[in-house]
Amino acid sequence: MMPMFHGDRMKAYGESMQQIAIERLESNRGQREILTLNLMTDISLEIIVRSIFGGSDPNLVAKLIQASQRVVASSSPLLFFSRKTHFSFLGLTPWDRWCDAKKHLHRCLEEVIDKRKLSGEPGDDILSLLCSATYEDGQPITREHIYSELMTFLFAGHETTALTLTWAMYHLHRNPAAFLSLMQELDSLEDNAPARLASAPYLKATVQETLRINPIVTETLRKLKAPLQLGEYHLPVGMAVAPATVLAHYNPATYDDPESFRPERFVERSYSPFEYMPFGGGHRRCIGAAFASYEIAIVLGSLLKRFKFELVDTAPVVPKRRNVTIGPSTAVPLRFLGPR
Ligand code: HEM
Repeated sequence: MMPMFHGDRMKAYGESMQQIAIERLESNRGQREILTLNLMTDISLEIIVRSIFGGSDPNLVAKLIQASQRVVASSSPLLFFSRKTHFSFLGLTPWDRWCDAKKHLHRCLEEVIDKRKLSGEPGDDILSLLCSATYEDGQPITREHIYSELMTFLFAGHETTALTLTWAMYHLHRNPAAFLSLMQELDSLEDNAPARLASAPYLKATVQETLRINPIVTETLRKLKAPLQLGEYHLPVGMAVAPATVLAHYNPATYDDPESFRPERFVERSYSPFEYMPFGGGHRRCIGAAFASYEIAIVLGSLLKRFKFELVDTAPVVPKRRNVTIGPSTAVPLRFLGPR
């Protein structure tokens, strides 16, 4: 799957990322205020659905977006962290709602997989790649396996980016110096082409700093296959271990004044994979890391170049657990101040 998320294949999504961001914002312009998290979720969900399934059938895109939104809306941290919540009662419990939403999405995805397999149309989207993929023995991968991969991409690939975009808007609108530096850079660009935005150094650094100060996934778990001696601790086979992402990202020995939002630290120097790990690390490092960084820079740059905003509420927003992800404690309301 790697080539779909890197190089020219990834860059081909740039135009559509930018267009979706602008269209979604335009459709909200009648309102005085917007909830940043809702806007960013709409944008990132449409981007991932179009990248996976192709953009040619608007009804299909709308149906999959709706079904995915239902799954997100029915998920709650309790369901992920306590099995005691996994019970059914007349279809009314949070577990019932979550299972229902997942079944509905499952049906939609199976329909799409069957149609695509039957049509045999070669496409350059992720679904086509999965439908034509084989195991090492040459057998085609099973429908259930394709479904499971699609679910991972849909969910790993949209909530994480929406939360990062929301944090970025929050931090930029609370830190005038960072905001000014970013706007100076954006104003100096020759044009708003997606590739140009994605390679603007301060914008890139803003994305990196947002993920440092507010990592979205803070536990990238591994299970030990062999015993591990870690300092004075002897850890047995089968034990779950995870790097402490937040401690690494707030280590004052690595990051000067770690509590401050200062994108320039990523312009001034680079950090090792042991100092900076918002996408995990090793063999299972996030496959969508480059795609996500590209998308966040394009969406953020495109929105900020076109419109002026201000925070409705200046009270601090703090990190709050959602499920395996951690996001802002509010949806970060923003007021429209008009076109830039
Ligand atoms: C800011 C956005 C994102 C963040 C912070 C993020 C973070 C992560 C993290 C921490 C992991 C676990 C890595 C590990 O265990 O070492 C992961 C895995 C994964 N991510 Fe992302 N991710 C983001 C966006 C995306 C996107 C856009 C996609 C798809 C297009 C994606 C697809 C995946 C997949 C498929 C895995 C599982 C990889 C595996 O187990 O081999 N992610 N992500």
